[in-house]
Amino acid sequence: MESFWLISQMGSTIWVLLLAFSVQIYITTATTDGRDYAALRSLTDEWQNLPPTWTEADPCGDSWVGIECTGSRVTSITLPNMNLVGELSGDIAMLSELQQLDLSFNRELTGPLPGSIGNLKKLKNLILVGCGFIGQIPYTIGSLPQLRFLSLNTNGFTGHIPPTIGNLSNLYWLDMADNQLEGPIPVSNGSTPGLDLLIHTKHFHFGKNKLSGTIPSKLFSSDMELIHVLFESNKLSGPLPSTLGLVQTLEVVRFDNNSLSGSLPLNLNNLTNVHELFLSNNKLSGPLPNLTGMTSLSTLHLSNNTFIPSDFPSWLESLTSLTIIMMGSIKLQGQVPTTFFGLPHLQAVELERNQINGTLVIGTSFTNQLQLVDLRNNKISEFNDAGYNFEIVLVDNPVCMETGKTDKYCQLPSRKSLYSTPQKNCVSGSCRSSQITSPTCTCAYPYTGTLLFRGYTFAEIGNTAPYLSLEQALMKFFQTHQLPVETVSLSDPRKDQFQYLLLDLSVFPYGADSFNRSGISMLAFAFSNQTFKPPKEFFGPYVFSGDKYEHFLDDTRKSKNSSTAIKIGAGVGALVFFLLLMLAGIYAYRQKMRAERANKNSNPFASWDSKKSFGDSPQLKGARCFPFDELKKYTNNFSDACDIGSGGYGKVYRGTLPTGELVAIKRAQQGSMQGGLEFKTEIELLSRVHHKNVVSLLGFCFERGEQILVYEYVANGSLGDSLSGTTLHLVMTICY
Ligand SMILES: *[C@@H]1O[C@H](CO)[C@@H](O)[C@H](O)[C@H]1NC(C)=O
Ligand SMILES: *[C@@H]1O[C@H](CO)[C@@H](O)[C@H](O)[C@H]1NC(C)=O
Repeated sequence: MESFWLISQMGSTIWVLLLAFSVQIYITTATTDGRDYAALRSLTDEWQNLPPTWTEADPCGDSWVGIECTGSRVTSITLPNMNLVGELSGDIAMLSELQQLDLSFNRELTGPLPGSIGNLKKLKNLILVGCGFIGQIPYTIGSLPQLRFLSLNTNGFTGHIPPTIGNLSNLYWLDMADNQLEGPIPVSNGSTPGLDLLIHTKHFHFGKNKLSGTIPSKLFSSDMELIHVLFESNKLSGPLPSTLGLVQTLEVVRFDNNSLSGSLPLNLNNLTNVHELFLSNNKLSGPLPNLTGMTSLSTLHLSNNTFIPSDFPSWLESLTSLTIIMMGSIKLQGQVPTTFFGLPHLQAVELERNQINGTLVIGTSFTNQLQLVDLRNNKISEFNDAGYNFEIVLVDNPVCMETGKTDKYCQLPSRKSLYSTPQKNCVSGSCRSSQITSPTCTCAYPYTGTLLFRGYTFAEIGNTAPYLSLEQALMKFFQTHQLPVETVSLSDPRKDQFQYLLLDLSVFPYGADSFNRSGISMLAFAFSNQTFKPPKEFFGPYVFSGDKYEHFLDDTRKSKNSSTAIKIGAGVGALVFFLLLMLAGIYAYRQKMRAERANKNSNPFASWDSKKSFGDSPQLKGARCFPFDELKKYTNNFSDACDIGSGGYGKVYRGTLPTGELVAIKRAQQGSMQGGLEFKTEIELLSRVHHKNVVSLLGFCFERGEQILVYEYVANGSLGDSLSGTTLHLVMTICY
């Protein structure tokens, strides 16, 4: 600072010259490109809960968490599950070299997706899963020529699917499921693009929206390479177009929970790679289709349609991969052939609410795969229970209506105890309040979330094999990617009304009791970007939803102080005098920049609400802004034990700073909050008052709707009084 003053005394010519030099040197010594730096600052101005490293001066050089650079240019922003709060600034468009943007699982990241996103011509991955985005998906999204991976699922997007998406000729993954999208499925027409143009895309995930109209037959063609077509739980009507049968690459097809009508196209039979076909809960009519050609079919859902009454289809026996059939309420009659139960992979036969009659003969050719035969509400009059060790449900059949029938098959199955990763030969003690015991009996703060499978190939969700296999796959993945994971646990598998399988996942940290930000970001990215692939033997397409993580390791440490050395690689031959001047200039400039930034970052009055102008930061004399989380720590979560006084304004707590210094923390309660401007005035005033009868103000906190003042601690027992009385009274007298 002294050098700063020294220099400013020197003539204005030198000063201007010097500034010019220092600016130049500043730009060459800071690694990050100036425009990129400005863009990142603009993003962070809109966000709360930034990672602590984001206060450093140089995003590329100081390795901000979640930022990757190539040279001086920012190429990747990967911040899933960082608890970010705010909106996405349109200035993101200034990051012209950006290739990846992943902000998934930040539920409080809201507002619209800015239209300027279309300027990111290098963008390959746009991943915004499980945020709070609302409004229309901008049509400019179709002008991202490099885009390969587009995931906007589980947000609050409304309006139509932009037809311009059809221009994304490099798109591999397209997921817009679980939004409020409405209107038709766009297909090309003259110069208007549409989804039919996406011939290299492998994934169409559009389930759980409000799409309506008919499925255009132009949507599908033999040029396509689609493997997953998911349009379940929309409002689509009309027939399933026969062009679907042209897409030979298909593996999973879901159109269940719509209002489709008409007959199924005959050429579905050409789809020899489809292993999961979901068409339940529609108004499909005509004859039951013969699907003998679908030789890979494992899961077949046809329940709740209005097909012409038919006998149990004999062609089902030729589908040797069949694992699960759900054909409830489709007017089946006659009998289920005994040989059908002998299919080698068969696990579940669900044929409830049909007209199946006569004697049910399961025979002896079934394999140990078979777990469930559910024929409730049919016309079965006779059954000979040979002590089968799988579930048989014949409730609401004539055979169960005889009085005094107590056979097990005449009772509704009881809910089985469901899977939960067991503990591994260890003894667990009790953990501290919010910590969780891992399967290896350590106490930690795991990263948790829910895996939702849109397809799966096993019937009995209480079975352990799929989960063991999934646990192994997860651990293997974490090990090969060198993620700091000790172990994982899975629990509470359950099906929801959309026929999805949900499963809770906890990932436990290795070598510490919680994850740091980069650990969480890498874990969340493995799921948001679908880098982790679950075992194909059991699981189909999935989405992950990460829970908010509240225990970042690096947030509990104090963030590094800003003494990053000034890096100068100046030529050694330069004049000593000049070098000294430059050094001084750079120092002064960077200090100034830093002070400005620090000021901006710690200025809750600027970002609080731009519409109500609270003006600049409070003019403080030695008082500083404390993050709410820190104050929480200092007072042991505002525990009652730390409570040293209370009154109508709220409570006063005793807190201990990391330095050991005791402080008094006055937290206003909901009803007694002041306006932001008044609060600011109070802080300014208190920070100036130094009087023997008034305890001095050390700092304040104004975030998350809290108004907190931090005072010097005076151990005379009447502190609570002096805070609630004298000080406050003084303020009142002067302010009002
Ligand atoms: C698909 O099925 C139809 C009718 O079932 C048949 O005429 C056609 O040749 C098949 N196409 C292919 C590519 O196998
Ligand atoms: C068929 O409809 C019934 C009654 O509306 C419902 O309980 C059942 O879950 C539906 N089946 C499927 C597979 O969705």
